Amino acid sequence: MARVPRHVAIIMDGNGRWANARGLHRTQGHARGEPALFDVIDGALGIGVEWLTAYTFSTENWSRDEYEVDYLMQFNVDLLQRRRDELHAKGIRIHFIGERDDPRVPQELRERINDAEELTSGNDHMHMVFAFNYGGRTELVKAARRIADDVMAGRLDPAEIDHAAIAARLYLPDMPDPDLVIRTSGELRTSNYLLWEAAYSEYVFTSVLWPDFDRQTLVDCIIEYQSRDRRFGGAIDAAGAEGDG
Ligand code: IPE
Ligand code: IPE
Ligand code: MG
Repeated sequence: MARVPRHVAIIMDGNGRWANARGLHRTQGHARGEPALFDVIDGALGIGVEWLTAYTFSTENWSRDEYEVDYLMQFNVDLLQRRRDELHAKGIRIHFIGERDDPRVPQELRERINDAEELTSGNDHMHMVFAFNYGGRTELVKAARRIADDVMAGRLDPAEIDHAAIAARLYLPDMPDPDLVIRTSGELRTSNYLLWEAAYSEYVFTSVLWPDFDRQTLVDCIIEYQSRDRRFGGAIDAAGAEGDG
């Protein structure tokens, strides 16, 4: 497949609606999102995607009712326990971006996150990034604080603060910017996802609810991505040449 996006970032949305439509509790929609994600991981590996990022919990999701929040925390603990070795065996490196040290995040989950990153730190078949307790604005606030600390300590001259200085202080400085951001469930917004990193990403929106998404839907989204002309602010080529994706 030509022009495979190096980094695909997904906003996995619509679990609650998927469950409601079946008379199930919202949390059963989250449970059914797991096989969808793991099918997509296998599909991405097969296609040659190097980085896959999945939005699993936003800094705004704490506003949901306590039962759902507690479920999602425990779900993440269980998921890491059940799936960590499988991802490791596939040569996948696990990363988490977000506020893992937030006191609202259960200690057991924080430990599992750290363990999963440590265990898989030598892998290089694909990078799997979980955006957990993640918000783009919080990520930028944290970068601003680090910059202020470095200026105060005399390590950084304010005149040297540039794009690279900010990018170097994000959660995962080595992560390339996403080429493609996919959002499921028909919502047309970013919901605070990768605000800095997605400045020039292509967006593909699909009405498919996340539990119904799979590797074939991923391929469909990538085919749409491949039809786009990525210009990064440049002029349209008079010869009508395609972007290089
Ligand atoms: C996405 O599905 C999963 C999380 C935000 C954790 P939702 O739970 O947002 O599902 P809808 O949007 O209510 O259908
Ligand atoms: C975004 O979905 C967060 C995740 C998918 C984890 P939401 O369902 O929380 O976003 P809004 O509230 O519809 O914008
Ligand atoms: Mg939603």
